Parts: sequence; C-alpha cells; structure tokens
Amino acid sequence: MEMKNFNSFVLTVTVTILDFLYQGRDYQRFWVLEEIARAPYFAFLSVLHFQESMGLRGISQNELMREHFEQSVNETEHLDYMESRGGSRYWIDRFVARHLVLLYYWINVVYYWVAPRSAYHMSYEVEIHAAETYAKYLALKGPDEKILEILNDELHHAHELELAIEKL
Ligand SMILES: [Fe+2]
Ligand SMILES: [Fe+2]
Repeated sequence: MEMKNFNSFVLTVTVTILDFLYQGRDYQRFWVLEEIARAPYFAFLSVLHFQESMGLRGISQNELMREHFEQSVNETEHLDYMESRGGSRYWIDRFVARHLVLLYYWINVVYYWVAPRSAYHMSYEVEIHAAETYAKYLALKGPDEKILEILNDELHHAHELELAIEKL
C-alpha cells in the first residue's frame, strides 16, 4: 500500500472512532483533536533539532524549524480556547487525549525521521480534516467568529505543509 493511501486509511479509521465517541460533544471533540493535532509539530521540531545536533543539517532546516515552532504555538492557542469552552472538563477526555498524544508523538518522530514527505502528508490530511470538522460545526450551529478563525488557521497549516514537502 502506498504511504499516502496508508495515511488516509489510518486517518479515516481514527476519525470514524472519534466521531462515534464524540457525538454531540463538540468542544470535547475539538479539544481532543487539537491536543493530537499539535503533537506532529513538536515531533518534527524534535527530529530537526536532533539532526542539527548530529551534523545532519538540511537545506531548509532553519526555515522548517521556525515554521513548526509557530504552528505548535498556534495549535496551543487553539487548545487554550477549547479549554476555555470546557473541552478538557472531563477526566475521560483528558485520559483519551493524553494516551493518544503519547502514541502519536512517537509515531511522528519515527515517521518524520524515516519518511519526512509522508509524515508531512499525514499531517496535511489531519489539518484538512480539522478544517472540515470546524466547517461542519459552523454549517450546523451558525456563525462563530472564533471557530472560523481557527478553521482558517488549519487551512493555513495545511498549505504550509504542502510547501514544506517541496522544501525537503
Ligand atoms: Fe488547531
Ligand atoms: Fe492545525
């Protein structure tokens, strides 16, 4: 199976499970998604820093590090907002998110080390999914400026990932 198909397959399965578990609990779902969505950026940063320390500096190393740092901060802002809306109120959601993120961080470290383009593509798909999730929410619940702003951030991240693939 090609890596892109593999990424889409894993994402579809995960999303189906999360959609089922988080029916009618929008802010808890968003909080879990944001908690997971930010892990790849610090996984990419960890690998880039480590490569740099090992003398394996790539051509666009600094640019990529700056970009991923900014993305991780922006995702943390999204997370803070979801927390302010009660997304992390329940123990079970914190339990789910923190175990998923532990796994997802290390998957991304290994994936980015061995196949950076495919790792970027997986995050690209996750960002597109996040944007779609927020778009569905807006379609159902009506206008919400903050959610629209976050939706646009996710599209921006997806675009930056497309550009990052070309920089490798
Ligand atoms: Fe986000
Ligand atoms: Fe994002």
